[in-house]
Amino acid sequence: MGGLGARRDGAMPRHEAPLRAEELTSRARLALALPSVIGHRGAAACAPENTLAGLRKAWELGCRWVEFDVRLTMDKHLILLHDDRIERTTDGRGRAAALALAALRHFDAGAWCGPGFKGERIPTLADAVALLGEIGIGANVELKAARGREAETGAAAAAMLSRLWPSHLPVPLISSFHQDALAAARARSPGIARGILFRAVPKNWRAIAESLGCAAIHADHRRLHPAIAAEIRQSGYPLLAYTVNDPTRAHMLLEWGVTSVFSDVPHILAAAAGVGDRAGVSAAAEPSPAEPPPQGAVQ
Ligand code: G3P
Ligand code: MG
Repeated sequence: MGGLGARRDGAMPRHEAPLRAEELTSRARLALALPSVIGHRGAAACAPENTLAGLRKAWELGCRWVEFDVRLTMDKHLILLHDDRIERTTDGRGRAAALALAALRHFDAGAWCGPGFKGERIPTLADAVALLGEIGIGANVELKAARGREAETGAAAAAMLSRLWPSHLPVPLISSFHQDALAAARARSPGIARGILFRAVPKNWRAIAESLGCAAIHADHRRLHPAIAAEIRQSGYPLLAYTVNDPTRAHMLLEWGVTSVFSDVPHILAAAAGVGDRAGVSAAAEPSPAEPPPQGAVQ
C-alpha cells in the first residue's frame, strides 16, 4: 500500500516551486476530461489487477479511463504492481524492488484470479501504454515506491510517459501519496497533470497541492464529507474518490460534487440509475452479472 509516510499528518512539503499558469488551466482541462467512473487497477473485481488482461477488461466493460499502480524493479524498469511484494498477485515471492524485470516476468500474475487468466505476466508501463494506445482509453498512473525510491520513481515515470504517451489519448494524470515522487515528476515533465493522494484530506490540502503544482485531489471516499468536497470543488480542483463499489454511495459522492470515483466494478456503477451521463462507461457495454471479487483481490 502506498503511504503518506512522514507526511501522513498533512505537514507542508519542502517543494515550493511557484504555481505555473499551465498548471492552473490543467485543472479545468482535467475536470472536463475525467469521466465520473474510472476502472480501478483495470477492473479489479473482474480481471487480475494491474495486468494487460485487466486493462482490456476495463475497456470491454466500456471504461474511458483506468487507474493502475506502477513501481520500479531492482533494475529500474517500471512495472504495474500495487504491493511492495509480489505474493498476493503472482505465484512468485519477494519484493519487486529487489527483483530484476526478467525474474519478475517468470511469474504468473493471472492464475490466482481464475484459470482463464493463467499465463498473464506483470506488465511494464511501456506495455500498458502501448495497449492503452490501441484500445483508446485514458489513464491515471499512480506512483508507488519503495522507501527511498520515491523521487527516482516519479522522474522515471514522467520521463517514460512524456516519451511514449500516444498523442491521440487524453493527457495522463500522475498521482501519488508520495510527495517526493510528485515533485520529481513535476521537475521532469511539468506538462503532465498531477494529483495528490490523501487518505483523510488534511486541513492544509490546498497548500500541499499548490506547493506541488497538483491539478487534482484524490481521497479515500470513506473519509470524505460534503463540506470538504464542496471546498475542494469550489477551489477549482477536480476531486477523485477511491475505491467505490456501491452504486448508492457513488451516486451520493457525485451529488456532493466528486468528479470521478475509482471502482473495481465500473460497469455496475455505470449501470446503476443516476450515476450520470458522463460515467465514462459506455451504455452499450454489456453489464456482466455481478461477479464476486476474486479471492484475495483488492486490498
Ligand atoms: O489511486 C486511487 C487508489 O488506487 C489508491 O489506493 O491502494 O488502491 O492504490 P490503492
Ligand atoms: Mg492505486
